[in-house]
Amino acid sequence: MTDTPVALLTELEAAAELAFLAKKMAELDEAYYQNDEPLATDAEYDAFKRRNEAIEKRFPHLVRPDSPSKKVGAKASDDFEKVTHSVPMLSLANIFSYEEIDEFVDRIRRFLGLPDGAALEFMAEPKLDGLSFSALYINGKFVRGATRGDGSVGEDITENLKMIQDLPQTLHSADLLGNDIPERLEIRGEVFMNKADFFALNEAQAAKGKKVFANPRNAAAGSLRQLDPRITRDRRLSLFGYTFGEVSEEKWSTHSEYLEKIKSWGFPVNPENRLCKTPQDIAAYFTSLGERRSSLACDIDGAVYKVNRRDYQERLGYIARSPRWAIAHKFPAEQAQTVLKDIRVQVGRTGVLTPVADLEPVNVGGVMVSHATLHNEDEIKRKDIRVGDLVVVQRAGDVIPQIVRVVLEKRPEKSVPFVFPKKCPVCGSHVVRDMDQAAQRCSGGLVCPAQAVEQLKHFVSRDALNIEGFGAKNVAFFFERGWIKTPGDVFELEKKYGADIRKLEGWGDKSADKLFSSIRKVQSGVGLDKFLFALGIPQIGQATARLLAAHYLSMAELTAQIDAAQDRESEAYQTLTAIESIGVVVAQELLDFFAEDHNCREVARLLTLIQVNDFVPPKQDDNPFAGKTVVFTGTLPTLTRSEAKAKAMALGAKVAGSVSKKTDYVILGADAGSKAKKAQELGIQTLSEDEFIALCNNQKQ
Ligand code: IVH
Repeated sequence: MTDTPVALLTELEAAAELAFLAKKMAELDEAYYQNDEPLATDAEYDAFKRRNEAIEKRFPHLVRPDSPSKKVGAKASDDFEKVTHSVPMLSLANIFSYEEIDEFVDRIRRFLGLPDGAALEFMAEPKLDGLSFSALYINGKFVRGATRGDGSVGEDITENLKMIQDLPQTLHSADLLGNDIPERLEIRGEVFMNKADFFALNEAQAAKGKKVFANPRNAAAGSLRQLDPRITRDRRLSLFGYTFGEVSEEKWSTHSEYLEKIKSWGFPVNPENRLCKTPQDIAAYFTSLGERRSSLACDIDGAVYKVNRRDYQERLGYIARSPRWAIAHKFPAEQAQTVLKDIRVQVGRTGVLTPVADLEPVNVGGVMVSHATLHNEDEIKRKDIRVGDLVVVQRAGDVIPQIVRVVLEKRPEKSVPFVFPKKCPVCGSHVVRDMDQAAQRCSGGLVCPAQAVEQLKHFVSRDALNIEGFGAKNVAFFFERGWIKTPGDVFELEKKYGADIRKLEGWGDKSADKLFSSIRKVQSGVGLDKFLFALGIPQIGQATARLLAAHYLSMAELTAQIDAAQDRESEAYQTLTAIESIGVVVAQELLDFFAEDHNCREVARLLTLIQVNDFVPPKQDDNPFAGKTVVFTGTLPTLTRSEAKAKAMALGAKVAGSVSKKTDYVILGADAGSKAKKAQELGIQTLSEDEFIALCNNQKQ
C-alpha cells in the first residue's frame, strides 16, 4: 500500500495498487480463516479494505474480478455447506523406519494375544498425497460428498466431486444373484492430481498468466474446493477409495474384500495395494515403492499398513484420533546440500522467463539432482539466492527439486545478488513484468524462437486465421525444417518450398494444393478482428480483438493510434484505455507488443502479404441479437465459449458475465447453475445452443 492520496493516483498506479490489495487481502483471508494464523491486526486489515474501496470508487472501471470488495464474507469455508461425519474421519500415526514396522506388528500381536506363527495379514497401500474425501452412496447412487474438515465436520463438496470423471455416479453390482451393495455406504479415499495433469495444468495456467501451483497436492486442493464446480471439472482430478465411514450393513470380513467389492462396483482402487503376510513382506513393499516412487503417476509420501481382518480392526480400536490397526510409514525427508553453480533463465513457449538453478549434482533421496526451479525473480530475491552459494535442495512432492534456503554461514565472500535479465536470453527483446503477476515475459512475441511454434499454431488456428489443413502437426513439422519461422513465412511457403513439400512422403500434389489454396484464400481477405487475434498478443483474446477492431475500424487507424498512445499523456492513450473492457493492463500488453521493433516489422510484412479487411459493423436491426445483452452459462454441446461469444458479438450483441434485469437472452449449456435459476426468476428468455445457432442464422423458430 502506498501513501499517495487516492485523488493523486494515476490510473496505472491505481491498477497496480488494486492488484496488490487483491493479492494481499486474499493472503490475509487465507491465513485468518483457513490457517487460523492472522498475519495482520484488525485495524491493519480494515485499512487495506478502506483503501481498496476508495480506489475503486475513483476508478470504477479498474475493479478486478477478484477484488476483495466482491467477496461476500471472506471466509471461503463458510461458502460450502457443513457436513457432520456420522463416523469421524481420523488420521494416522506415523513411523519413519523399518524397525518401527516390527514394533507395529508386535504391538498388534500382543494386543490381540496372537501366538507366534498365527496368521496376521496386512494390506500395504501407497500413502497418496492429496485430500481425503467421503462419498455417500444410498442404494448405489452418489448423494453427497464431503471433505474431512476437522474430522468431525467437513464441507459439502457434492457438486465438485460429481465433476470428477473417476467418481461413479452409480455403483453397479457385479453380483448376479442379488444386490450386494449396502443400502447406505460412505466410501472414503483420496482425491489427487496425477503428475502429468499437474504439469499440463500449470502450463495452461502460466499461459493464461494465472497462478501456478507449487505441487500436485496444492493443485488438487485448489481445484476441488472451488465454489464454481465447473472449475473442478476443467481440472483433471483422480481419486481412489481406501476405507469407509458409515455403512448400513457390512458385507465384507476383510479390508481386501472391501476393496475388491468397491472395485467390482466401479469405484477406483489403487492397483499398487498389496496384501502382506509378514513384516518382511511389508518392508519389501516399502523398499519397492520408494524405488518406483518417481515413476509412479501420482505423488505419494509413504505407505499405509492396515490390519486386514475387520474383526481384528474392531478389537484393536483407536488411540486418540488414529486407529491402532493402521499406520503411515513416511518416506524420509529428501533434502541435501550442494553448490549453486549458475542461474540460467529459460523462456517458455508463452514467453514466461523462468530462472533455473544449475547445481553441483547431488543425491537427494536416491535421485541425482543437478537442476532446481527458482520460480521467478521475486523468489530469488526473497531467499537471496546467489551464484556460488551453498544451498539446501529438496525434492518437493517428489518431482520438482526446489531450493529451500541458502546456508548463509557458508556464503563466499564477494558474492553478488542475482540480476534478472532485462532482455530475453533467446531473442534479445525487452522483458516486461506482468503487472499483477510475479512472472516476467519476453515481449518478442512473434520473433522469439522459444515462443515461435506455439505462436504459429495459434496464428493459423480455427479461431484465428483459420487456414484449413494447417494443423498443429504441420506447423511443428515445417518449423523443424526451418521452412516457417515467423507468421509471414506461412505466406511464402508455396513460393519457397512448394516443390519440396510436394515431394514429402505422404504429401503429394493433392494435399499440397489443398493447403496452398487455403493459404491463398486467407491471403485474399481476413477481417481486422481475426488478424488482431491471430497476432497472439497476451491478453488480446477473441472478444478483445473484436472490441479493438470495432473501435478503430481499420489497421491503418489502429496502428496510428497505438503509436500515439505510447505516450501515456496522450489523448490516444486515454481513448484506448476507455474502450469498454480494455483497462490499463490490456492496453499495456498492446503497447508493449507494438513497442518492439521486431513485432512492428513482422506486422508490416504481414500487411504486404495479406489483405486485412476493414471492420464492418454488423447491421444494427436486421437480426435478433443487435444491441441485445446475452449471457452464456454452462457447457455448450458443440461451440466453445469463445466461439459462441464471437458469434453473438459479430451480430452486435453485448456479452455479459452475469444475469441481470438488463439481460435479453441467457444461453444455457450443460450444468448451467445459478445463472439459469436467476434467468427464470427474472423471466428472461433462455435458449439452447441449437436455438441460439438457429437465431444467429436468422431462421424462424
Ligand atoms: S486410511 C482411519 N489409506 O493420510 C484412517 N489414508 O495421515 C483412514 N491417506 O487422512 C485413512 N493414502 O488423507 C488411508 N491409502 C491410504 C491413504 C491415506 C493417503 C491420507 C488420508 C489420511 C492421512 C492420514
